[in-house]
Amino acid sequence: MLVLGIETSCDETALAIVRDGREIIADVVSSSLDFHKEFGGIIPEIANRHHLNYIIEGLEKIRETGALKLEEIDLIAVTYGPGLVGSLLVGLSCAKALSLYLGIDLIGVNHIKAHLYASLMQKEVKFPFIGLVVSGGHTLLAKVTGYLNFELLGQTKDDAVGEAFDKVAKLLGLGYPGGPVIDEISKGVLPRDYVKFTRPFLKKYPFDFSFSGIKTAVLYYLRKLSSERKITKVDRDKTLPSKESGRSVPVDKIAAGFQEAVCDVLVEKAVYACEKTGIKKLVVGGGVSANSRLRKKLNLKAKQKLIEVIFPVPALCVDNAVMVAGYGYQLYRLGQRSDLTLKAQSILDF
Ligand code: KG4
Ligand code: ZN
Repeated sequence: MLVLGIETSCDETALAIVRDGREIIADVVSSSLDFHKEFGGIIPEIANRHHLNYIIEGLEKIRETGALKLEEIDLIAVTYGPGLVGSLLVGLSCAKALSLYLGIDLIGVNHIKAHLYASLMQKEVKFPFIGLVVSGGHTLLAKVTGYLNFELLGQTKDDAVGEAFDKVAKLLGLGYPGGPVIDEISKGVLPRDYVKFTRPFLKKYPFDFSFSGIKTAVLYYLRKLSSERKITKVDRDKTLPSKESGRSVPVDKIAAGFQEAVCDVLVEKAVYACEKTGIKKLVVGGGVSANSRLRKKLNLKAKQKLIEVIFPVPALCVDNAVMVAGYGYQLYRLGQRSDLTLKAQSILDF
């Protein structure tokens, strides 16, 4: 069965064709990221316009790369939420029009659940498992017992983890999006040189997260540095160790310390969820699952605790339509259908 996936929940306009839930026939992504960079975050109006400008071109491309006629597609899977409503509406309108024109079924897909499905694309993973979603908009733990059965165990009480990466990168003058840059510059820092930041484990709420405290700790650390005149202006070039001035301002060490604190919290809570539920399988998804330190630490800890961890391949960590087409296929097989009343939804429904 050939499924066309459409994803427009944030800044990526993505289309893909996937056969039988796993085989990728075609995959195109156009991101409006470069247009958002100067604002240090996603501007919904810019994202919406990009989707409008690109979606038909993307459809043409997907058809060409897959060497397909539109009439060969059997089902359309589209992200209905959570996300930016204006952006979601572009994908939904396109999906509904195609479903009407081609006379084929439509299935609405939850973006967060699709992120977890990205890890299941490579191989058959048996249920149940614990799902850890770490994206720019969400951070949560769920007990997953089937494609239709998700039980939310806990989620962030403030910032999503990707959002915290982006905000800290902004404080450090590293640009947007922050996750990949922090990941990269932290690689050269030895663990003993990491700046130490707080790790909010929320003992009373072991499955919930809070990242705004770590972000604020970085802010206070920077303020303290600047009052001690160790830092003049947070700018990526000027704050990297400078031999000329004899002043070494440890942007990379701050970034690595922040990343370490975040990873420690994620690893501890994910492993605790596995142990508490007795489910020794952990599936990770979302943009932050590309983080090299998180992968290393989680793999290490899981090995000690005999937990199997499954990460998506790097290309499927961030937003894409492959996971939407794939997960849509599984839902369709289970008898799920949507119709033209399918609505865009900004918040998470689990
Ligand atoms: O899943 P995603 O593409 O979009 C949402 O659904 O939100 O995630 C985007 C987030 C951004 O906050 C970005 O900074 C973060 O994923 N990210 C990373 C890395 N690559 C992307 N965070 C940490 N390390 C990375 N390597
Ligand atoms: Zn996403």
